[in-house]
Formats: sequence, structure tokens, C-alpha cells
Amino acid sequence: MSFFVGVKKAWARRPCHLLDGVVTVTEMMQTTSAPLPVETPLVRVRELRTWFPIKRGILSQTVGQVKAVDGVSFDVREGKTLGLVGESGCGKTTVGRTILRLIPRTTGTVEYRGKDFFAYQGESLRKLRRHMQIIFQDPVSSLNPRMTVGNIIGEPIQVHGIAKGGERDELVASLLQRVGLDPSFAARYPHEFSGGQRQRIGIARALSLSPDFIVCDEPVSALDVSIQSQILNLLDDLQQERKIAYLFIAHNLAVVEHFSDEVAVMYLGRIVEKASSKELYSNPKHPYTLSLLSAVPEPNPRPKKTRIVLKGEVPSPSNPPTGCAFHPRCPLTREMARGGDERDTVQITSGGEPVRVLRKCVDEFPALEQKQGEAGHVAACWVTT
Ligand SMILES: Nc1ncnc2c1ncn2[C@@H]1O[C@H](COP(=O)(O)OP(=O)(O)OP(=O)(O)O)[C@@H](O)[C@H]1O
Ligand code: SF4
Ligand SMILES: [Mg+2]
Repeated sequence: MSFFVGVKKAWARRPCHLLDGVVTVTEMMQTTSAPLPVETPLVRVRELRTWFPIKRGILSQTVGQVKAVDGVSFDVREGKTLGLVGESGCGKTTVGRTILRLIPRTTGTVEYRGKDFFAYQGESLRKLRRHMQIIFQDPVSSLNPRMTVGNIIGEPIQVHGIAKGGERDELVASLLQRVGLDPSFAARYPHEFSGGQRQRIGIARALSLSPDFIVCDEPVSALDVSIQSQILNLLDDLQQERKIAYLFIAHNLAVVEHFSDEVAVMYLGRIVEKASSKELYSNPKHPYTLSLLSAVPEPNPRPKKTRIVLKGEVPSPSNPPTGCAFHPRCPLTREMARGGDERDTVQITSGGEPVRVLRKCVDEFPALEQKQGEAGHVAACWVTT
């Protein structure tokens, strides 16, 4: 945590380095979107499900489903950041890609500026895509090695009819400079750059169409720690300048704490807790969130937390546990079952060992509900209040 403390503050102190002579290009890039009414989120996701069929045999029959995303709902407000956190395989990337329609949804809705995003087709969809972009986790594989940096950033500008020729090159140069790179880099190829520089190129590409919503899929996790805060600062600065909303995906709560306005914690395809960033870190309710928080290093001289190491293997999204999907690994249900009434508890096998847990956790699915604390702080747990 210590490393990321002050990321936003450092950013706020720095002046904006908008380029001289960029104004005409910037004007050209400006979106025509009208301001949203306060009650309308920029992106509204409801009961989103993305299941991948499991096929077997020569007839390729569907024998099951990987429930990668299984009923996820949240809002992303204009110019704000929602952090989406959870361990590997919980469905974070699938959420981001489904929202952008890079992969098909199974059920559920996504609204952009109050309108059904899945209803757009053809030219109207192409135009709308301009406003919704993605920054990928891996800056190496996400850039075409056979294209110059200038073409990587300039292609979408040209395809969307924003600028061509000299104007396009001017815009590419301004974008490169804005993300902290020398405009002469436009003539070079991705392999000539470091990981941090490549991620800056990826950010410039995402910015090239002046989006107001960007899915940042673990944009710093492949980078050295020393570079991470520079990229976070850049993203934060761009948000202040351009009112961009981020869905910021991470598996590390330390990164999202200082970067997000709100945080949603995912476990096995579902959101199990959601609250403002400050509330979630100071008043966590779900045992899974607690275990993630216990892994976040505290800066000195704060006392060290006891690390909660979860027991039992991570279940498969093709065969999730009944009731609360976290029950085979949950330390709280084990603690509550200890010395509890036999009728209210049940023995299960977790990690090859017999353990006693609350019957309700095995039998009944806990919905997200308001917990004690800030309004809007919801968690899915039978035990915590
Ligand atoms: N195209 C696909 N076909 C089948 N299963 C898939 C597909 N894409 C993802 N999955 C499965 O869906 C689940 C969620 O994957 P996803 O990549 O969304 O997780 P994640 O939270 O982003 O993980 P990570 O932190 O490792 O990036 C995983 O079990 C994964 O194996
Ligand atoms: S519902 Fe039960 S198993 Fe699930 S998080 Fe709460 S205590 Fe743990
Ligand atoms: Mg992922």
C-alpha cells in the first residue's frame, strides 16, 4: 500500500502539459455528447451473465457451462473510477470485454448514457464504440509488432474519419507527447520500447478517439513497481483533464484503493461486496474482502496485519459450490460453526479435509444487501451485518 499512497495527490500538484498548437486538433476530437443528468450513470450494468459452453465429442455437444460472469450489476459514473478486484479467474476480464461487446453476453443489460448498448448495430454501433475503449494488461501482445507506433495510434483516427494525412500525424504527435513520449517515436516499432513505454503507447491508442469510458484491464500489473505509479499518475491526470470514466480491473487492492472512487470485489463470477473506496477499506464486511485486504502491505510505522490465508482450492466456475460460493474457503463460517448447534451446521470436505460450516452457507444463496455503514455499502454474506 505504501507505494501507491499519494498517487492522486502527486498528480493534482502537477501542472497540465497540454501542448501548444494542439487546440485545433483537440477541437476536432471533441465529442458531441451532451452532459448526463446526475441520476444517469455513464455505464449501467444489470444482471450480466457471460457463460462459455463446454463442448465435448465429435458432435461438439454442450456438456456444461463455464459461468465466468454470473449476474453482475454496477454503475460507472461520468468521470469516476470503479475498481473491480478479485483473484485470477474470477471473471474480471470477461466483465470488461462483455461490456464492450468484444465477447457476446449470455443475459443481462448494459446501458451507455441511458441507452441499451446491445441494441446498437452497424454504423451506429461503430460510432458509439469510439467512446468506449480498453487498455490491455499486456503491453507487449496488445500492440501489433508489424505496425509503427504512428500507425498503431493513427489507424483508429483515420478509420473513424477524425483526421488524415498531416492532421492525423499532428494528432498522433500530440497524443504521444501527452502520454510522456517523444513525438519522433511515431516512426518506430513496438519492440524498440520498454514495458512502461509500450503501455503509454497503449494508452495513447485508447485516447485517440476521445473516449469517455475506458476499461483498464490490469494496466500496471505487467510493469515494474517503479513504473506502475507513473502510469497510474498518467491515467489519473487524463481522467481529471478529460472526464474519462474508468472500469479499473486489478487483483491487487493496494492499486485500486487510491485510484478508485468505488470498489467492487468479485468472487467466482459474482460481486460479493461493493462500497466507496474509503468505506470498503475502513469497514470491510465480506470475509473474502478481508482476506484480500490482509494481503495488502501496510506502510511503516502502521502495525502489521495478520495475513488471512484461505484454505481449500479455488472452485471451478463450471461447477460452483452451492449456497454461498465462498463457503468451502470461508474462515468465518468455520468459526461460527465451531461449538454451534449440530442442526445449524454441516460437515463438508475442503482441500481434502473435513470441516464444519454453517448449514445456511451451504444451502442458501446470499444476495447483495445493504450492511451497517455508508449507504450503498452492500455485501453478500449471511453472517456479517
Ligand atoms: N473464451 C473462453 N472460453 C472458455 N472459458 C473462458 C474463456 N474466457 C475466459 N474463460 C474462463 O472464464 C473464467 C474467468 O476468466 P477471466 O479471464 O475473466 O478471469 P480474470 O478474473 O480476468 O482472471 P485474471 O486475473 O487471471 O486475468 C476463467 O475460469 C476462464 O478460464
Ligand atoms: S455467507 Fe457464510 S460462507 Fe458466505 S461469506 Fe458469509 S459466512 Fe462465509
Ligand atoms: Mg483478466
